[in-house]
Amino acid sequence: FARQDGPKPLAGKKAVVTSGPTHEPIDPVRYIANRSSGKQGHAIAAELARAGADVTLVSGPVNLPDPVGVNVVRVETARDMLASVQAQMPADIAIFAAAVADWRVKDQAGQKIKKTGDGALPVLQFAENPDILATISQSSPTRPALVVGFAAETENVVEHARAKRARKGCDWILANNVAPDTGTFGGEDNEIHLIAGNDTTGDEVWPRQSKVAVARTLVARIARHFDT
Ligand code: CTP
Ligand code: CA
Repeated sequence: FARQDGPKPLAGKKAVVTSGPTHEPIDPVRYIANRSSGKQGHAIAAELARAGADVTLVSGPVNLPDPVGVNVVRVETARDMLASVQAQMPADIAIFAAAVADWRVKDQAGQKIKKTGDGALPVLQFAENPDILATISQSSPTRPALVVGFAAETENVVEHARAKRARKGCDWILANNVAPDTGTFGGEDNEIHLIAGNDTTGDEVWPRQSKVAVARTLVARIARHFDT
C-alpha cells in the first residue's frame, strides 16, 4: 500500500462527492433511474482520501464496495442526496459525479399499482428534482471553495458543457463525450475535456483513460489548484 503512505497534498481539506444513480419510486416495488455504475464517483472519493482529504461519499444505489478511508452515506432519491450533501456543509471541495434523475414521480403510489385486466395503462406525472450541483454552487455562505460538476454529452460536447457550467455556477465541469461511437458510456474509460472558465483559457483535454486514471488526474489538478 505504498500509495496510502504517499504525499498528502489535501490534508486538512474536507470533500464531498456524489456518485451513482438516484432511484425515484413509482410505487413500493418500482422506480425510475438513470444508468450509472458509480465507478467514476467512487474512484474520485478514493483518490481524494489517498491525497489526505476528509471525504464523504454520498452514493445512490450501486454494486461497488465502499472506498477505503471514505465516509459513505447511502441514499435513494435526489431529494435525499441533496439533504445528505447539505448536511456535510461547510466543505472545501464538492464533486458531483452522480447521475441524478432529472424527474421524480409526482404522486408516488402507497401500494403496488396493479394491472387492471382491461388493458388500461397507468399515467405517471413527473415533478422536477432539485439540481444538487446548482444548489450547492449558488449557496452562500457555505459554498465550497471548489465545486466540480460533470457533463455527459453526445454532441457539441464542449459548448453544451460550458453553457452548463455558467448556468449552474460551478467552478469546473468535466465534459465527457458519451456518443455511442466513442464506447465510453457504461464503459471503463472516460474521455474528459476540463472546462474551467467562460472562455477556453484553463481548458484541458485529457487523453482517454480509465475512470481510476481520470480520478488521479483530477485529484492532482485539485492539489495544484489549492497549492497556487
Ligand atoms: N446534477 C445534480 N442534480 C441534478 C441534476 C444534475 O447535481 N438534479 C449534476 C450532475 O451530478 C452533474 C451535473 O449536474 O455533475 C450535470 O448533470 P447533467 O445531467 O449533465 O445536467 P442537467 O442540468 O440535468 O442537464 P441535461 O440532463 O438536460 O443535459
Ligand atoms: Ca440530467
